Amino acid sequence: MGSKLVGCGSEVPKFMISNDDLAQFVQTSDEWISARTGIRNRRVLTGDETLSGLALKAADGALQMAGVVADDVDLVILCTSTPDDLFGGGCKIQRDLGCKNAWAFDITAACSGFVVGLITATRFIKGGGYQNILVLGADALSRYVDWTDRGTCILFGDAAGAVLLQACGSDDDGLLGFDLHSDGYGQRHLNAMVKDSETEVISNTNGAPIFSPNKTSYSYLKMNGKEVFRFAVRCVPQSIEIALEEAGLTCSSIDWLLLHQANQRIIDAVATRLRIPAEKVISNLANYGNTSAASIPLALDEAVRTGRVKSGDIIAASGFGAGLTWGSAIVRW
Ligand code: ACO
Repeated sequence: MGSKLVGCGSEVPKFMISNDDLAQFVQTSDEWISARTGIRNRRVLTGDETLSGLALKAADGALQMAGVVADDVDLVILCTSTPDDLFGGGCKIQRDLGCKNAWAFDITAACSGFVVGLITATRFIKGGGYQNILVLGADALSRYVDWTDRGTCILFGDAAGAVLLQACGSDDDGLLGFDLHSDGYGQRHLNAMVKDSETEVISNTNGAPIFSPNKTSYSYLKMNGKEVFRFAVRCVPQSIEIALEEAGLTCSSIDWLLLHQANQRIIDAVATRLRIPAEKVISNLANYGNTSAASIPLALDEAVRTGRVKSGDIIAASGFGAGLTWGSAIVRW
């Protein structure tokens, strides 16, 4: 059993923060941010907007494009590190979409989340019994960014993207090859740790400790940008080459390079290493910044809806980020 991509959708918050806006409250400039990252604007959740609200609209767009009704969805996979609910957000999306015949779960793999979710979905279809799977990438890292830290707050934005994956015959299989990795030794370079110090320890009458974790919160996102940059430029081309080899393809067969949208300099460096010309590279981070697990489906949706990516095109998609995690999927649209 194979699986093919039959729909996509995306949604971003209304509120936009430009580089000039950021320069009002941290010592930075549009010139510095644009030159070092390629980012000019980012969208951030405000007011009563929620991450699940964005994800719901993205999923709806994917279902409509595919011409599939909610009743026919078997599984909803939400890839996120920042759900509205600590216990996960997939089930709420399943409920709100009205996918009453589906079950749902979350995947946490930071900026690699969408690629991990996509490959997971293809495994369920391959195993049999699944016809339509919604894979969502949605993140709101603005919730964990220190808005006084110019080294990180300039990078991130909030968004959601979705694809619908449908079962098909093996000959039409749209997942041509994949490759996944993690390296926990690199966690020190990029994390947002739980603040243990705020956990109160109270003793009961028997002297046994009772933990009162109700003050638990997370630290701001911390990143060693240079290390993450080096890791991405070293590991992503290797991962794409491994996935291409599994697909029996070479870089020259790729119609589109679609990387996690973290930094234009990372995208350019990977494209150069793989000798992929700029006109085959999808990039929309100037408008949205790094939207973590949402960035690949958000950029895919834009490229499909503007007619750049056409039916039958081969896309090399690669995610990388905290964990450290990284992985690639060679897919046919
Ligand atoms: N504006 C102006 N100056 C700044 C800013 C800013 N926003 N940020 C840092 N600087 C200064 C630094 O203080 C430093 O000054 P100094 O030389 O006086 O000490 C100087 O600029 C250089 O700083 P670096 O951190 O060395 O700059 P670098 O060229 O490495 O760029 C950046 C930083 C953009 C963060 C880059 O390292 C990067 O993009 N790294 C990759 C990040 C990434 O891709 N993350 C993806 C995963 S995210 C996830 O998984 C959640």
